[in-house]
Amino acid sequence: MMFTISHLSVFSLLLSIFAVVSALPLALRDVFVPPVTYPHAGTVWKVGQHHNVTWDTTNAPVNITNKLGKVVLAKGGRLDYEHPLIKDFDILKGRIEVQVPDVTPGDDYTIVLFGDSGNNSHNFTISK
Ligand SMILES: *[C@@H]1O[C@H](CO)[C@@H](O)[C@H](O)[C@H]1NC(C)=O
Ligand SMILES: *[C@@H]1O[C@H](CO)[C@@H](O)[C@H](O)[C@H]1NC(C)=O
Ligand SMILES: *[C@@H]1O[C@H](CO)[C@@H](O)[C@H](O)[C@H]1NC(C)=O
Ligand SMILES: *[C@@H]1O[C@H](CO)[C@@H](O)[C@H](O)[C@H]1NC(C)=O
Repeated sequence: MMFTISHLSVFSLLLSIFAVVSALPLALRDVFVPPVTYPHAGTVWKVGQHHNVTWDTTNAPVNITNKLGKVVLAKGGRLDYEHPLIKDFDILKGRIEVQVPDVTPGDDYTIVLFGDSGNNSHNFTISK
């Protein structure tokens, strides 16, 4: 009984948060989806190396809703959302250093950069 009730209240709390966020005027939410410029097609990263992911900030709106960025690695289009390479950095910096995690080598890796929304890099290679 208790379990059901607490589940219900969490659910309605989430619903109210969603309602409030969706009700925000669109003008206050300038969406910025910067294109990733590095890594790109032909890039090869080795496990353990440090690299700067870079992106184009030239079209950044004056008032960005979410200035904090997150970099997520994806393989074959599958995002490892639970383990971002780095997060909570200033998206206007245009670059952020990451360390290549110990993942299975492959040539179908992409970097997804999240601010307000996500944009992905080209496919690139990670090797041992
Ligand atoms: C992502 O970046 C590309 C350029 O690399 C751009 O053409 C595209 O519109 C961007 N996607 C979004 C959702 O803004
Ligand atoms: C990343 O960029 C910063 C700032 O330009 C630089 O100091 C740093 O050495 C770069 N890191 C790598 C791995 O290139
Ligand atoms: C940006 O936000 C400031 C402060 O809220 C406001 O005065 C300004 O008009 C906004 N600019 C744009 C282009 O939305
Ligand atoms: C990356 O490669 C996959 C196939 O492995 C393809 O479906 C996808 O469109 C490619 N992504 C980009 C951004 O080129």
